[in-house]
Amino acid sequence: MSFSAEWLALREPADHEARSIILRNHLQAHLANRDDVDIIDLGCGTGSNLRALAPHLPPRQSWRLVDYDQTLLDAARRTLRDWADSASDADSGLVLQKDRKTITVVFDRVDLAADLEKLLARKPDLVTAAAFFDLVSPEWIARFCDALAAHRLTFFTVLTYDGLDRWLPPHPADEAMVRAFHAHQATDKGFGMAAGPQASHILQQALTRHRYRVVMEPSPWKLGQTQRALMNALSDGFAGAVAETRMVPADIVESWRVARRDAVSCEVGHYDLLGLPSAD
Ligand SMILES: C[S@@+](CC[C@H](N)C(=O)[O-])C[C@H]1O[C@@H](n2cnc3c(N)ncnc32)[C@H](O)[C@@H]1O
Repeated sequence: MSFSAEWLALREPADHEARSIILRNHLQAHLANRDDVDIIDLGCGTGSNLRALAPHLPPRQSWRLVDYDQTLLDAARRTLRDWADSASDADSGLVLQKDRKTITVVFDRVDLAADLEKLLARKPDLVTAAAFFDLVSPEWIARFCDALAAHRLTFFTVLTYDGLDRWLPPHPADEAMVRAFHAHQATDKGFGMAAGPQASHILQQALTRHRYRVVMEPSPWKLGQTQRALMNALSDGFAGAVAETRMVPADIVESWRVARRDAVSCEVGHYDLLGLPSAD
């Protein structure tokens, strides 16, 4: 499944705004006594997760940005260069200076459906992801948690879709549209049948079985008139996904999509989740 850099750029401000401050503070406290930290970001896209987290992490950071889409990895390199106060090339990556932090970035083209264990065997201080875990299957989550727990790695994932879509004003087709969207969410995104809105709870259960302390907090998008472009792109994407399922007649999908041009607000539910390994 591919995502455009334009879509990721459009959603980035809403993503950063929605993240749970409570969980970010937990993570920050967990890593507070360190001068440096080594991080792997799964499904990094253009590096939004780094831009959101770096200000809250120790002064020296090494990030491995992992994605299977070379176009997005190239966009990540450009976007991070623009974001940093200064940037220089280093080996295959970048060294960034931003707000008195030194951030080393390596770009790693990996298909996470295949090459997961080798990546986690690097034993980073933190494994993180944003807007990624609803794409993967329950079986992949079990495999991921086994590999994570084998090295007792700290885990922080944000913005996992939780199934809530609430548009105002309501439309008569809302219920049918959401049902079809959830059916689309459960289709194979490259990792087997996707966990979709169940992903956070499946992660929570698997990590708890591995003796992790798991904390979850909601991180909904609450979009209004000032985010019209994002709401339009969201409703177009939502209608497109529903159309693929053929569960709702095409004329109803289209009338729903057009009606959403006048939407006043939209809430999309997500969870953030922090998993801390208990001491052995
Ligand atoms: C919704 S985007 C989120 C991107 C980014 N984390 C963000 O918050 O903007 C999901 C990302 O997962 C990546 N992805 C999907 N399947 C993948 C796979 N099998 N291996 C590696 N990356 C994958 C996509 O290319 C995309 O960048």
